[in-house]
Amino acid sequence: MEDIVSLCKRRGFVFQASEIYGGLAGFWDYGPLGVEIVNRIKAEWWKAMVSENDNIYGVDGAIIQNPKLWEASGHVAGFTDPLVDCKNCGARHRADHLAGTDSTDLAELKVLLKDKVCPTCGKKSLTEPRTYNMMMKTWVGPIEDDSSVAYLRPETAGSIFTNYENVRETMRAKLPFGVAQIGKAFRNEISPRDFIFRVRELEQMEMQYFIHPENQDQAYEEWREFAWKFLTERLGIDKQNLQWHEHAENERAHYAAAAHDIYFNFPQGFKELWGTHNRTDYDLSNHQRVSGKDLQYFDDATRERFLPYVIESSVGVGRMFLAVMTDAYHEEDINGDKRVVLKLKPELAPYRVAVSPLLKNKPELAQKAQEVYNILKNKFGNVVWDDNGNIGKRYRRQDEIGTPYCVVIDFDTLEDDTVTIRNRDTTKQERIKITDLEAKLC
Ligand code: GAP
Repeated sequence: MEDIVSLCKRRGFVFQASEIYGGLAGFWDYGPLGVEIVNRIKAEWWKAMVSENDNIYGVDGAIIQNPKLWEASGHVAGFTDPLVDCKNCGARHRADHLAGTDSTDLAELKVLLKDKVCPTCGKKSLTEPRTYNMMMKTWVGPIEDDSSVAYLRPETAGSIFTNYENVRETMRAKLPFGVAQIGKAFRNEISPRDFIFRVRELEQMEMQYFIHPENQDQAYEEWREFAWKFLTERLGIDKQNLQWHEHAENERAHYAAAAHDIYFNFPQGFKELWGTHNRTDYDLSNHQRVSGKDLQYFDDATRERFLPYVIESSVGVGRMFLAVMTDAYHEEDINGDKRVVLKLKPELAPYRVAVSPLLKNKPELAQKAQEVYNILKNKFGNVVWDDNGNIGKRYRRQDEIGTPYCVVIDFDTLEDDTVTIRNRDTTKQERIKITDLEAKLC
C-alpha cells in the first residue's frame, strides 16, 4: 500500500484533501493523472451499463433530497455501523473491525470483544458495542434547527427509487428496465482507512434493475455476471485478484434479502469492491407507504398490478480506481535496477503515448518531434511531450504512470521519416514509419 500511496502522490494521481492544512481524515483529491483514469473508468461503466443497453436509463439526482426519502428508505433508523468507545482515551473504533468479523450483530460482537483492549491506548476500557448512524447532516436554508435538517445522500440509489415512476412514464419503459447513476455519496465512517479504500466522501456507480418478482433469481445472476465481466474484460483485471463473497444474514444491509460482493485483492487483503444486492420491493413499498403515491406497475399483457422487485449493482469509483492501480502495479528487476511499471489497459492510461526528441538541444530534432507530437495530439488528445533527462529516465518515468508507448525522434528520422516506438510492457523497441504510428497506437 505504501508503494501505491507514494506513487499516487509523487506522480499526481491522488493528493490528501486540503493537504496544506494537514488534510482531513477520509477525504482525498484526485490529481491530473488520477482524474484521467477516474474519468475513463466512469465512461467505460456508463458505456457498458447505459449506452450499450436499450433498457437502462441514466439519471443525475441531487445530493440533498427531502429527508423523508431517508426515513422511508430506513437509513435514518438503520444505516449504522457498530461502534465502541474507549473510556480511557476517548477513541472510537469500528466494533466489527476490532473483533475481526463481518458480523454487525451487537450480541455477537459483545462476546467477541470481551477481552479486547483499545488499539489506541492499549487499555482494557472499551464500552459495549452500540450502533452509530453514518449519515452526514446539514441544514437547508438560513435557519439551523430540526425543521431544516437534511442529509448528504449515503448512497446514490435513493433518488433512483424516487424517480422510478418519472423514468418509467417519460421513457415509456416496460419491465425489466434499469436506472443508472454516477455520483457522490457521503458516509461519516467511524474509521476511514487504507488510503482511498474507506473514505467519507465517495463516488458510486449504481444501477437499480426493476423486474417482475418472479425473475429475481435470473436477474440477480445476470448482474453478478455483468460485474465480473466488466472487471475482467473491460478493465482487464486479473481474475486471480478477484473472488466472490456471499453475505451472511448478519452482514447484509437493512434493505437486502441477498448480497454477493466481488472482493478484490487490495494491498491490505481481499476486500469488498462491487456489490450485487436483491433489494426486493423493500424500497418501493416503503416509498409508496410514506409518500402515499401509488408506485405499482401495471402489466398490459397480463393485466397484473404489482410492485417491482429491484436488483442493485453498486460499486465505488475510488475502490475501482484503487483496484485498477493495484492490479497494474508491478516492480521488475532489470539488470539489477528496479523498474516500477503500471501495466494499465491502454484505454485506461492517462496518456496513450509520450513523444520525445532524442536530444533536447538539437532544434532540428525538437522541430520534427513537435510535428509528430501535433499529429498524434490531434488524433488522440491524451499525448504527452517529454524531453526531460536522458531517454532511459524518460522511459522509467512513463512506465511509472502507465504510458503504453514512447515515441522517440532521432537523426535517422530526419533522413527516412521513421521513429523508434518502445513498448511499456515488453520494453522492446521497433522502428516504424511516422505514417504508420496512428494505426499502431489505435
Ligand atoms: N446502494 C448500495 C450501497 O451503497 P454499499 O455496499 O454500502 O451498498 C456500495 O456500497 C459500494 O460503494 C461498495 O461496494 C464500495 O465499492 C463503495 N463504498 C461503500 N462505502 C465506501 C466507503 N466508505 N469508501 C469507499 N467506497 C465505499
